[in-house]
Amino acid sequence: MPQIDTEVLSSYPPPAAFADAANATSDLYDEAEKDRLAFWGAQAERLSWETPFTDVLDWSDAPFAKWFVGGRLNVAYNCVDRHVEAGHGDRVAIHWVGEPVDDERTITYAQLKDEVCKAANALTELGLVAGDRVAIYMPMVPEAIVAMLACARLGAMHSVVFAGYSASALRARIEDAEAKLVITTDGQFRRGKAVSLKEAVDDAVRESGSERESTVEHVLVVRRTGIDVEWTEGRDLWWHDIVDPASTDHTPEAFDAEHPLFLLYTSGTTGKPKGILHTSGGYLTQSSYTHFNVFDVKPESDVYWCTADIGWITGHTYIVYGPLSNGVTQVVYEGTPASPDEHRHFQVIEKYGVTIYYTAPTLVRTFMKWGRQLPAEHDLSSLRLLGSVGEPINPEAWRWYRMAFGSDETPIVDTWWQTETGSAMISPLPGVTTCKPGSAMRPLPGISAKIVDDDGNQLEPGTDHGEQANGYLVLDKPWPSMLRGIWGDPDRFKETYWSRFAEQGWYFAGDGARYGKDGEIWVLGRIDDVMNISGHRISTAEVESALVGHSGVAEAAVVGATDDQTGQAICAFVILKAHHADTPQEQMVDELRKQVATEISPIARPREIHVVPELPKTRSGKIMRRLLRDVAEGRELGDTSTLVDPSVFEAIRASK
Ligand code: PRX
Repeated sequence: MPQIDTEVLSSYPPPAAFADAANATSDLYDEAEKDRLAFWGAQAERLSWETPFTDVLDWSDAPFAKWFVGGRLNVAYNCVDRHVEAGHGDRVAIHWVGEPVDDERTITYAQLKDEVCKAANALTELGLVAGDRVAIYMPMVPEAIVAMLACARLGAMHSVVFAGYSASALRARIEDAEAKLVITTDGQFRRGKAVSLKEAVDDAVRESGSERESTVEHVLVVRRTGIDVEWTEGRDLWWHDIVDPASTDHTPEAFDAEHPLFLLYTSGTTGKPKGILHTSGGYLTQSSYTHFNVFDVKPESDVYWCTADIGWITGHTYIVYGPLSNGVTQVVYEGTPASPDEHRHFQVIEKYGVTIYYTAPTLVRTFMKWGRQLPAEHDLSSLRLLGSVGEPINPEAWRWYRMAFGSDETPIVDTWWQTETGSAMISPLPGVTTCKPGSAMRPLPGISAKIVDDDGNQLEPGTDHGEQANGYLVLDKPWPSMLRGIWGDPDRFKETYWSRFAEQGWYFAGDGARYGKDGEIWVLGRIDDVMNISGHRISTAEVESALVGHSGVAEAAVVGATDDQTGQAICAFVILKAHHADTPQEQMVDELRKQVATEISPIARPREIHVVPELPKTRSGKIMRRLLRDVAEGRELGDTSTLVDPSVFEAIRASK
């Protein structure tokens, strides 16, 4: 029998017609290869600079990078005004789709400019100046995007906090950033119901809960649902009272390329979230460049839709700064995919003629579960490109996505990146790359990444990936949209990202990866104590600290176990204090689940909580999470020889 090369069978070259019209050709790789810094200098010319930069990169104070040295620009001007000035004011910037059916708004670039200017004037009236921090805690309403751009216009930093986070998570982020202003809504629609949001802000800024006096001077509230809210006179203000009547005239000030643009908190390996700092010129350059080339956007004709929330980096880069800097028309949807029923996304694609759709593997798997007939009932022929982000996409989901959404024709871009990288780093170019389902393929032109072993030796690409050892994914050269630090904690920045390969000066991403047969990269997932639940980053330490915050818990250990639907699921093992020995276990588990939802967010609620008599520990007292993962995933136990008491597992298994 002839040998079948499965690698060839499962490779997907770009369709010829797509390749012919694609924004990016393979020349980009050659140009970047020839002179990386000159290449980035050329990409920065995508933007409008008030003062040109004199140097592309200053890496003398590594790992603190300075890109586009001496350049000055206004990020909001680049995202809005310049499109209006170029005669595209009537182009739709946002087709906004609210969760309630038929609650829709269309906002042109000219209208967006007016809204951003009004908000910038109103915020200035409130005393906001460049460098101040503003917490934004809002659902996916247009005002959230307007608020972000108004901050950018004034040189104030936004810190968007996902509206699914609890009051205490919001409080921690407000306090760490010392935010002066919080922008929120009265409430939000969730599966047809209006639920409060401002209440969480009230809790978060209440003096009594904190040792420190709140830095928050004002809470600016958009009326979204009309539900009743408590009001603190003097502090609370309605958006419609101060933004709506403000002037639409506002002259943008240019800021240094390294002026801070935003903070975005993300989970690390400790319980304390890190405020990832991004700055202006480099971040916007790479966001704009990657959005243009990876998503192949044609601003005159495409309707782009990224289904992320602005509370995450994907929403920042590929809803706000990437698409708007490119003058693209996009759909922004407020609700969940099943509201009012599972047809919603397909109806939106059909109604607006969406051409580019960017989502997360967990949602693709949800659609798979709902079944093939659902997309088959809709005309999805407008789609010409699909994207994936947030976690490795399993080949089965990749193939289904292409078949059900893309008539088995459209290219898929599987984009690997992180909150810290600011924008996409490893991804196919849709008109160039022959893709293998499940692999993010190669670093984008201008980006350098390697897979290395413990000692920093590069693994050998080209062997069969089945036999290839796994290694660490590192970024061995600085890139424009790299994080510039962790807010208020330069040592943690160095320690977290730059200490593993300090000698070489490489950034360690926290992911394991391996090379495939043709040198492509297969990202395997986190190898630190960070979990990835439906593409959301949650640290084991964060959940453990929420659990031990309950008066009945003596100790807790948390692991991420593989889950068909969500990628990973949270499994917790807890030891109860003696005085809770008689509380029924079910009641306790219920309380603990609630505790995690209140302390962090419902997205961090454990799938399983096991009450156990002991936790597996090494002689030095370290919890052996690897073994707990074996238990959670029902595997044979790995090496238990370093355990103090290997018999603890009988008791742990008995509790499952
Ligand atoms: O483990 C990788 C995974 O998500 C992590 C970054 O999470 P976050 O900062 O929340 O940003 C998510 C959106 C950019 C990475 O360390 N990850 C992200 N995209 C992929 C991925 N893993 C595999 N393939 C991807 N395409």
